[in-house]
Amino acid sequence: MTLTLETSSPEQTAAVGIALGRLVQPGDVLLLQGPLGAGKTQLTQGLAQGVGIPEEVTSPTFILVNEYRTGRLPLYHVDLYRIERVEEATDLGLDEYFFGPGVTVVEWADRAPAAMPDEHLLVELRYVSGQETDRRLRLTPRGERYEQLLAALKAAIPAALVASG
Ligand SMILES: Nc1ncnc2c1ncn2[C@@H]1O[C@H](COP(=O)(O)OP(=O)(O)OP(=O)(O)O)[C@@H](O)[C@H]1O
Ligand SMILES: [Mg+2]
Repeated sequence: MTLTLETSSPEQTAAVGIALGRLVQPGDVLLLQGPLGAGKTQLTQGLAQGVGIPEEVTSPTFILVNEYRTGRLPLYHVDLYRIERVEEATDLGLDEYFFGPGVTVVEWADRAPAAMPDEHLLVELRYVSGQETDRRLRLTPRGERYEQLLAALKAAIPAALVASG
């Protein structure tokens, strides 16, 4: 099952993140893909809020991973935009995060597909032609846990966000 959502503002994308943030469990992995400015960080900021993290979440730049430990569970925010070789992702020791006690969110996960875990929730964000502030989010679960998470998300968000086509 995949779920396609349509948001028409940054706040709506963040709201999807908030809903996810309330549902995530230790060991969950969310892989975010989509072009520059698609809303990956917006979604992550909402997720952080949903996890109960009071600090402002900004994209990790040179460090590649930011850890937040002030919420209901740890958030590991990874951004692979700047990596040049897949080995750099391997060198980060990402498995420590993926299989750790927190939730891991990876922006630009498609830069190092081989370093990503088989089971995850894939979130593909894209622009919708026409409206500057419209985005389409396609969520695809890989594994039983993520089927469950996606079903719970669908029940938690406003039906109006679910795309019909
Ligand atoms: N529906 C929407 N959802 C999310 N962001 C939106 C939406 N409409 C407009 N925006 C704007 O698009 C931008 C999204 O920026 P964001 O940093 O989240 O993108 P990103 O995918 O993380 O980009 P990057 O690849 O540079 O990390 C913000 O400036 C936000 O205000
Ligand atoms: Mg970003």
